[in-house]
Amino acid sequence: MLSCAKMIGIRSPFIYFIDPVRAEIVMEFIEGKNAKEMMTHDLAYRIGRYAGLLHSNNIIHGDLTTSNFIVGKKLVLLDFGLAFHSVRNEDKAVDVKLIKTILKSAYSSV
Ligand SMILES: Nc1ncnc2c1ncn2[C@@H]1O[C@H](COP(=O)(O)OP(=O)(O)OP(=O)(O)O)[C@@H](O)[C@H]1O
Ligand SMILES: [Mg+2]
Repeated sequence: MLSCAKMIGIRSPFIYFIDPVRAEIVMEFIEGKNAKEMMTHDLAYRIGRYAGLLHSNNIIHGDLTTSNFIVGKKLVLLDFGLAFHSVRNEDKAVDVKLIKTILKSAYSSV
């Protein structure tokens, strides 16, 4: 799912190694700050653009929270453990509902 996201222009960590026996994934370490710690109007807009891009390509992230974005040179999306493909608007709406609830509750003053 990480690779699918990358193919549509979502910046996400590069996978270096997968060990199915030990259930380990070795990936690129992304330098930067968590979006959770530095929310701005512009950042919220960029998160929304990423959500739109994912959903227009029928990719559901499954855990679209501010802590799963790192703001480095580019905006980087992490944590595809719950991601899946779906054309259903209901599945896309669950992603949107989650990020909307977080933005409203944690950053209502921004
Ligand atoms: N590739 C990465 N580079 C830098 N920091 C990362 C990277 N992957 C994860 N992190 C940091 O670790 C935190 C937790 O990682 P992640 O979101 O993948 O797992 P999780 O939400 O704790 O676990 P899970 O969703 O599997 O229950 C992230 O919020 C981020 O701060
Ligand atoms: Mg996470």
